[in-house]
Amino acid sequence: MSRLLAPTDPADATAIEASLELAAERGGDLAPAVYARLFAREPQMQALFWRDTSGAIKGEMLAKVFEAIFDFIGPRIYAHHLIETEVITHEGYEVPRAVFATFFGIVAEVVRETCGADWTPAMDGAWRRLLTDLDHYVAQRGRAAA
Ligand code: HEM
Repeated sequence: MSRLLAPTDPADATAIEASLELAAERGGDLAPAVYARLFAREPQMQALFWRDTSGAIKGEMLAKVFEAIFDFIGPRIYAHHLIETEVITHEGYEVPRAVFATFFGIVAEVVRETCGADWTPAMDGAWRRLLTDLDHYVAQRGRAAA
């Protein structure tokens, strides 16, 4: 059983939402930047997307990640469970658990860089805390845990 964390502080949620809106406005589709960085840092991940010749799977996956972040910082209805189950589902794709944490960190970096000069200390703190909380659920041991 997972130990549940407290919900995201509403001030942090506001800062994260503002950063995501700004990044979407400035950068449009963040998928190319996110995956380029993922594959530069974790080159063995690129081949796992061999079926994704159009980029649709990568795009949809990132869209699901953003949706999950919005749920996680808001009502947190499903996102924490989704992370735990996707970590296990993805073991079937040969995606190591540690890469999940890397991936969330890369999303944060790309959002920060896309916000540029409008990135605020409040956004910085809020994202740091968000990544720590997401890591908590990535690190859960899953179904077979003793
Ligand atoms: C919370 C984080 C993530 C979510 C919500 C997510 C979601 C998804 C979804 C919905 C799919 C489509 C197939 C399915 O339903 O299982 C998928 C496929 C895949 N994901 Fe993720 N994913 C996440 C993180 C990652 C990470 C960190 C990697 C590392 C590279 C990754 C690699 C893959 C691969 C290789 C596929 C298979 C593509 C194929 O169908 O050929 N995912 N993911």
